[in-house]
Amino acid sequence: MATKQTHRIALIPGDGIGPEVVAEGVRLLDAVAEADGGFDFDFTSFPWGCEHYLRTGQMMPEDGIERLRGFDAILLGAVGFPGVPDHVSLRDLLLRIRHDFDEYVNVRPVRLLKGAPCPLKGVEPGQIDMTFIRENSEGEYAGSGSWLYAGTPREVVIQDGVFSRHGTERIMRYAFELARREHRSLTSISKGNALNYSMVFWDQVFEELSAEYPEVETHSYLVDAAAMLMVRDPGRFQVVVASNLFGDILTDLGAAISGGMGLAAGANLNPEGRFPSMFEPIHGSAPDIAGRGIANPLATLWSASQMLEHLGHAEWARRVLDAIERVLQDGDTLTPDLGGSASTSELGERVVRELLPV
Ligand code: NAI
Ligand code: MG
Repeated sequence: MATKQTHRIALIPGDGIGPEVVAEGVRLLDAVAEADGGFDFDFTSFPWGCEHYLRTGQMMPEDGIERLRGFDAILLGAVGFPGVPDHVSLRDLLLRIRHDFDEYVNVRPVRLLKGAPCPLKGVEPGQIDMTFIRENSEGEYAGSGSWLYAGTPREVVIQDGVFSRHGTERIMRYAFELARREHRSLTSISKGNALNYSMVFWDQVFEELSAEYPEVETHSYLVDAAAMLMVRDPGRFQVVVASNLFGDILTDLGAAISGGMGLAAGANLNPEGRFPSMFEPIHGSAPDIAGRGIANPLATLWSASQMLEHLGHAEWARRVLDAIERVLQDGDTLTPDLGGSASTSELGERVVRELLPV
């Protein structure tokens, strides 16, 4: 008898609606494993986040990174809650994991599924289908800078953008490879007119790499123009490569035009597999609706689909996304953000039933 493959998954449900949506991710993954029969999941949950911080003064224990190191992947809900400064909660948990595990690729699909609400007039599903490749390890979020003479009239703050050749080349190469594999165009997001060091360099590296991938159609837009075009003509964008900050902002815009924050998924990849990759909905902890059981779990389920693909189960990944799309189209079981009245777990269950009819 063939031995079952076990995927060891670390769960970091986090704060607010994080635990509510992660529970649905676990339900789905367990159901998939049971139906497949060839693999299963071994989940270990870590109670880290803002409550942990208020109790211990730390977002995660000193050896947190060491404890996560041996896992095959991480599923994260959301971190951050009123009472703990956001720059602490974000930097000491999420950014720390992304950084220490060299998860330098942030993959954010911006795809308008059939049945998902779109605020743009006259835009059909199929006309919004982008894959954002956001640099995830340096750039504007490198955490480099200084705060001098704090609290005095001479106060001065400096926040550096850090763009290494190594970091810039590897993210662009990842995007070029993806675009080539999928026969899609690649758009680079820049601001070379105003950021006269970082983005001039970014543009230069993009041009150098373009020469190595003559079969990939390329475009380059300034970030402000890109924001306008994503609304006016989203069909222009296929694979998109952006720095940490620009990618962060444009993918929230992407979420807004493709069903809302409750549908937007993200994967933080260490493509070489030296460290665990992390999968998470891109929304935050939504304190305004936390604890009410009405958070939309679909972003987390989409992230779970990305995790399945990463773990070598591409067919299941596709089937999960198809099931999400059919549930959106049916429209009988949706959470309030999608205009329905279903609870988080009702929608989570509904997707599992759609995927695996009994
Ligand atoms: P948010 O994403 O938590 O909420 C923005 C709005 O979207 C709220 O009205 C919320 O109710 C709604 N929303 C978000 N996710 C939803 C879902 N699954 N279903 C239905 N509605 C949903 O962003 P906000 O309010 O700016 O941040 C709240 C906290 O989350 C802050 O502490 C922030 O630092 C943190 N945060 C954490 C992130 C992460 O862990 N990756 C990302 C963004 C924010
Ligand atoms: Mg963001």
